[in-house]
Amino acid sequence: MAATNTEAAEYNERKLENKVAVVTGGNSGIGRAIAERFHAQGASVAIFGRNQETLNETLDALGGEDESLAVRGDVTNPEDLDKLYAAVEERFGRVDVLVANAGVGKIRPFDEVDEDFFDTVTDIDFKGAFFTVQKALPLLSDGGSVMFTTTGATEKGLPGMSVYAAAKAALRSLTRTLAAELAPREVRVNAISPGPVETSLVERMGIPTEQATEELGKITEQQPLDRFGRPEEVAAAAVFLASEDASYVTGAKIDVDGGMAQV
Ligand SMILES: NC(=O)c1ccc[n+]([C@@H]2O[C@H](COP(=O)([O-])OP(=O)(O)OC[C@H]3O[C@@H](n4cnc5c(N)ncnc54)[C@H](OP(=O)(O)O)[C@@H]3O)[C@@H](O)[C@H]2O)c1
Repeated sequence: MAATNTEAAEYNERKLENKVAVVTGGNSGIGRAIAERFHAQGASVAIFGRNQETLNETLDALGGEDESLAVRGDVTNPEDLDKLYAAVEERFGRVDVLVANAGVGKIRPFDEVDEDFFDTVTDIDFKGAFFTVQKALPLLSDGGSVMFTTTGATEKGLPGMSVYAAAKAALRSLTRTLAAELAPREVRVNAISPGPVETSLVERMGIPTEQATEELGKITEQQPLDRFGRPEEVAAAAVFLASEDASYVTGAKIDVDGGMAQV
């Protein structure tokens, strides 16, 4: 059946008009694509990351200081998270959409994992994301949307990913718990699970980039869609989860992974 004019008009509206969104890791790769899509869909966006140069570049792409906010900090440092939310409160007064996306994809064979490596990865990927959400609660609007970036690696046994995949599996679990705990406030909590996506994560895996690309290529060969994903393809799912289109979706994980987890 053809859409009525009203339905078509609603479909064409910007999806995130009047919403305030915070995106950690919003200065690179997937997070940057999410921040840019949110901005294009009408949201006021705050990004958070460690690298001042890429924060500045991304802020420019988000309409500059007049329209958006960039805060420098580390998700493993509670005081930096406090600084983020103080700045967001002062500027926008609330958070409607929170994307706990900052993360590292470092890999290392199980027998070579030492305590430092274990702590670095779990502190950023699990503990950092955990407190990113907890510390946002006082500002988080009733009816808001929270999402974590997990990974298709939680669904497969991939060599070298013992710490990374487990930290992200913990986030998948947290997604379910928080969906239940925050439901009385009608806050929806979901996960987006990317497969291999072309970002600087590949260069930061802790192994030579060529080797990393080759290893990830072996994963895509097993997928129905045998290619790397693009950050924008992940961002499209984030817009859906952030918007009223996903008003009945919580506790879920959306795989944006070329079929990696399901086929
Ligand atoms: N690319 C993939 O294939 C893939 C697949 C599955 C899941 N993911 C997940 O997607 C998310 C985004 O990764 P990406 O691929 O877009 O990689 P990326 O381009 O390297 O971006 C990672 C982002 O996280 C930020 N970040 C890392 N550690 C941080 C810390 N301690 N404090 C604050 N910010 C921190 C980085 O900020 P700075 O640059 O300022 O350090 C950067 O903005 C990650 O959670 C990753 O695990 C990626």
